Amino acid sequence: MNWVYISDIGAHQGEEVILKGWLYNKRSSGKLHFLLVRDGTGIIQGVMFRGDVSPEAFEEAGRLTQESSIIVTGKVRADARAPGGYELAISSVEPVQVAVNYPISLKEHGVDFLMDHRHLWLRSSRQQAILRIRSTIISTIRNFLDEQGFTLVDTPLLTPSACEGTTTLFETTYFDEKAYLSQSGQLYAEAAAMALGKVYCFGPAFRAEKSKTRRHLIEFWIVEPEVAYYEHEDNLRLQENLVSHVVQTVLEKRRPELAVLERDVSKLANVTPPFPRITYDQALAVLREQGVEKVWGDDFGAPDETKLASMYDRPLIVERYPTSAKAFYMQPDPNRPEVVLCDDMLAPEGYGEIIGGSQRIHDLALLEQRLEQHNLPREAYEWYLDLRRYGSVPHSGFGLGIERTVAWICGLEHVRETIPFPRMLYRLYP
Ligand code: 4AD
Ligand code: MG
Repeated sequence: MNWVYISDIGAHQGEEVILKGWLYNKRSSGKLHFLLVRDGTGIIQGVMFRGDVSPEAFEEAGRLTQESSIIVTGKVRADARAPGGYELAISSVEPVQVAVNYPISLKEHGVDFLMDHRHLWLRSSRQQAILRIRSTIISTIRNFLDEQGFTLVDTPLLTPSACEGTTTLFETTYFDEKAYLSQSGQLYAEAAAMALGKVYCFGPAFRAEKSKTRRHLIEFWIVEPEVAYYEHEDNLRLQENLVSHVVQTVLEKRRPELAVLERDVSKLANVTPPFPRITYDQALAVLREQGVEKVWGDDFGAPDETKLASMYDRPLIVERYPTSAKAFYMQPDPNRPEVVLCDDMLAPEGYGEIIGGSQRIHDLALLEQRLEQHNLPREAYEWYLDLRRYGSVPHSGFGLGIERTVAWICGLEHVRETIPFPRMLYRLYP
């Protein structure tokens, strides 16, 4: 007899099989137990008849509790009424470990309670669906870039300097020196792009953001492509191609999971290139028409982003922000140096910025000047300046935040559900 996974059960119709999993839920009547069994690949209903097994075995199955680990033997039969189209006629259930008083029931619990039990909450159908979609999003991004000739380069997490401003740095010590947890692998990806042409780094980033919002995590994952000789326009095209490919692939491969999440998939079907593009100036004008009080030079906040993005049925690219509002490394527009050749990609439906990208300064003198204006200690960036001394070229790249992308595609209220163990302003446990 065969150990099979529930996802493959259709290939074993009429056969006696073994399932290894956990008890998701149970209902009993006098002569029947209905056991919902999950094994990580799916859920199936097993039916145990009193008449088919010994009285002891029937009693024992009746005592099984939610989330007890079990090995179940039974015959697979097609049943149009069953959720996956199949049912298991159980001949035996062997408990591996009996779970006593599993804290999470199938009824509603408060968010804090669920977050405190995140290690168990992951077992719910909803959380499983999210984690599968996350996994598909990540593998799709990597496959897309790999197939286009990008090389994955891993960048350090312990660093001597800042990439995205000094206010959100996570400080630690590195023996006798100060060090910071990486906010972005970008600066190192730039070095790698000068070696390998098209590269991306993909890893966690850390930002000590004192903001408690539904879009911010302290530790999040970011994929950062960087391409030598790419200019602003090339960068935008790569972004919209990547994002639309990811959305379409999830729609193709993860329909059942999107259904568990009750995601309105019609809102994702439109996500194909080209994406609408507006400049910062146009965006500011639109916001001011709507009564938002902002002056030229102000950055946009989450409510502004939501207003702008809700005007479109696919992600919106806002480009050319004021130089003063953005990071030190961004290339000024040669025709208008008060704006930089950058963009933010805003997801629809209020999910906010999923991508931040730009063309990078390739001129040594200008970059030196910017470091100074941003009060960044030049010594820590000497290696980065070297990239402008030895064969400097225009180059561009961007960072796509995984959690915000997952939240948008899954249609989730908050990024806390998009990552197995979220690190948030007031949460380091479990
Ligand atoms: O716009 P950001 O700060 O850009 C950078 O880090 C650049 N160095 C990227 C690059 O050009 N290589 O961050 C990029 C993206 C954001 O658009 C957002 O999706 C995500 O990273 N992000 C966060 N996600 C969750 N929690 C946070 N605290 C985040 N901060 C940024
Ligand atoms: Mg940004």
